[in-house]
Amino acid sequence: MEYSEVLENAKKTIGKNCMVCPVCNGLACKNTMPGPGSKAPGNGANDNYNAWKKIKLEVDTFVANAPIDTGIELLGMNLSMPLITAPIGSIAMQFNPTDDVADFNEKCMAACETRGIFHAYGNGRDKRVWDRAIESGKAHNNNGIPVFNPGTNEGIEALMDLYKDCLPQAMCVVVDSAGLPHLKTFNGKGGGTKTIEDLKELKAYAKVPFIVKGIMSARTALKAVEAGADAIIVSNHGGRVLSDTPATAEVLPEIVDAVKGKAKILVDGGIRSGLDVFKALAIGADACLICRPVLISYYGGGQEGIECYIDKIKAELEDTMYMCGARKISDIDRSMIRM
Ligand SMILES: Cc1cc2nc3c(=O)[nH]c(=O)nc-3n(C[C@H](O)[C@H](O)[C@H](O)COP(=O)(O)O)c2cc1C
Repeated sequence: MEYSEVLENAKKTIGKNCMVCPVCNGLACKNTMPGPGSKAPGNGANDNYNAWKKIKLEVDTFVANAPIDTGIELLGMNLSMPLITAPIGSIAMQFNPTDDVADFNEKCMAACETRGIFHAYGNGRDKRVWDRAIESGKAHNNNGIPVFNPGTNEGIEALMDLYKDCLPQAMCVVVDSAGLPHLKTFNGKGGGTKTIEDLKELKAYAKVPFIVKGIMSARTALKAVEAGADAIIVSNHGGRVLSDTPATAEVLPEIVDAVKGKAKILVDGGIRSGLDVFKALAIGADACLICRPVLISYYGGGQEGIECYIDKIKAELEDTMYMCGARKISDIDRSMIRM
């Protein structure tokens, strides 16, 4: 399946909220929420996208002509490349009422299994969504990472209890969802913002590597580390929780300088190619997440569409490594980019 075909198919199935643009840069959907856009006034996703584009690559072909290896080890997981498909809580609310996020999770985990990466899945409030995601994880090499919205600690721990006979390889709490317009009622039930003490309790309860998603400054990265996070995800939720925050590429350097070596650093927001993945790794990230284009690929071809998209990112990453003088992921450093 060609990627152009995936995009053409997606236009027929994704519904009116997404224009399936040639490049998913957050402009045409702007503040379409519900939908794939950003919170009003709607510039967040586009700011993220543009920030990666401002970073330039430095060509260096004066290196040995050895094969390229994109594999990494992350929190005990072996990945064929530094990529995780990002969590999406609901697609029925955002796209078409009959769409089934559990099917999206299943197809993502199936595609990620054949491509040797992991899928992070979101917090549908329907317990059946969790049950099906747990089944999908078991069927696909345990490659699902649950991402819990900031409900009460009691509520999150009850969800963690669902993983009785098969613990995932990591668990994640997303702290910035407190700002999502449609989660205000959820927040009213005792959820919302989290303290360091709250997160310490959840980390202890998780018993597997603990990830905190929604970090946008060195200050909050240090708080997550203090709470015991094994990894953080630098993310502004794709511009969906607050506008006029910096882009993730803009804050990544200060966060890397503050917490590198203390926790693994993941990043998302506007990453749209293997070139962007390379830039994030060059700044110091350990891995990246991609959300909206993976979803578009699901609408355009199910498992095969997602596999096609992952293959595209991998091929671009390999090409960039080849041209910038890196043969393995650990070779990539800041000297290979211009900020
Ligand atoms: C429709 C939609 C639903 C999302 N749902 C969740 C969610 O449930 N939990 C979460 O942590 N992030 C959620 N996100 C945020 C993504 O995981 C990701 O952080 C963000 O979209 C940035 O990546 P991107 O620019 O590649 O889309 C959602 C994003 C979109 C567009």
